[in-house]
Amino acid sequence: VRRDMSSVPRVYVTRQIPPEGLKLLRESGQVQFDIWDSDDVPVPRNELLKKVKGVDGLVCVLTEKIDPELLDAAGPNLKVLSTMSVGFDHLSLDELKKRGIRVGYTPDILTDAVAELTVALLLTTSRRLIEATHQAKTGGWGTWRTLWLCGYELANSTVGILGLGRIGVAIAERLKPFKVKKFIYTDVAPRPELASMIDAEYVSMDELARQSDFLAVCCALTPETKEVCNKDLFSKMKNTSIFINTSRGGVVHQEDLYEALSSGQIAGAGLDVTVPEPLPTSHPLFTLDNCVILPHIASASYTTRNAMSVLAANNLLLGLKGEPMIKELKL
Ligand code: DGY
Repeated sequence: VRRDMSSVPRVYVTRQIPPEGLKLLRESGQVQFDIWDSDDVPVPRNELLKKVKGVDGLVCVLTEKIDPELLDAAGPNLKVLSTMSVGFDHLSLDELKKRGIRVGYTPDILTDAVAELTVALLLTTSRRLIEATHQAKTGGWGTWRTLWLCGYELANSTVGILGLGRIGVAIAERLKPFKVKKFIYTDVAPRPELASMIDAEYVSMDELARQSDFLAVCCALTPETKEVCNKDLFSKMKNTSIFINTSRGGVVHQEDLYEALSSGQIAGAGLDVTVPEPLPTSHPLFTLDNCVILPHIASASYTTRNAMSVLAANNLLLGLKGEPMIKELKL
């Protein structure tokens, strides 16, 4: 039986997403989709603007800016946007809301992977593992030395969380067995339910800076959080403190961070996210021994990335059917 394909919703997928999600889209029989056939290069903007013309649904990742220009190019058929990310700073939410476009995203399923990586990055930074392997490999390893490559330990420390959500809680749960003395956090308002799970105390931003031996940034990037980690914050931190960011680079004023690290205002920083991404190899932050930079891999486990692709596919399919999505952003 030939199906009249004109009634089947058209979808554009901006990236070769992991196989489980693609399989779901392919086998649903519910959509006809076109896909940018690479995971190594993002779809060029011009191509994207052409491809979205007239689509009913769009699956994207965080490298695509979903702004008025793109929504205009797509036109009025577009009803559902599904991003394979928990972050949504690449989306113009006001515009999506205005146009009545529903938005799916992928929270929760990546929390474990992101928390694991954050702990790994924290320990890598505080115990200077990158410097240490480099020294071992390149002949810097002389005799055993009493203060060589010393770092800072979690035992008896105060850990501060900037932006307490699911991920902040998951990080604290993992750090607790390292004998952390105290968890503190700040946010736009106290979050007693989450805080009680990890016995964390609500403090001001100033106190967070002053007290934290380890400060982990776990907030979303919004106009309110843009560059809140700046000179003002770093100047209040202890010079033995470690700064960790696995949220979004835009939360940090990078020049101020460079200053704080190079002047010894703070002891070290571990960053999984930067501005821009990729961070050019010539960037001054790469010259610092006390800055560990990862290429935005916090959610990068096979299990999690496949689960994200499945959730993104399901959100899209449910949205196109006019049903509640599994994880839908309230606009
Ligand atoms: C997200 O989902 O927003 C992360 O940055 C990538 O997994």
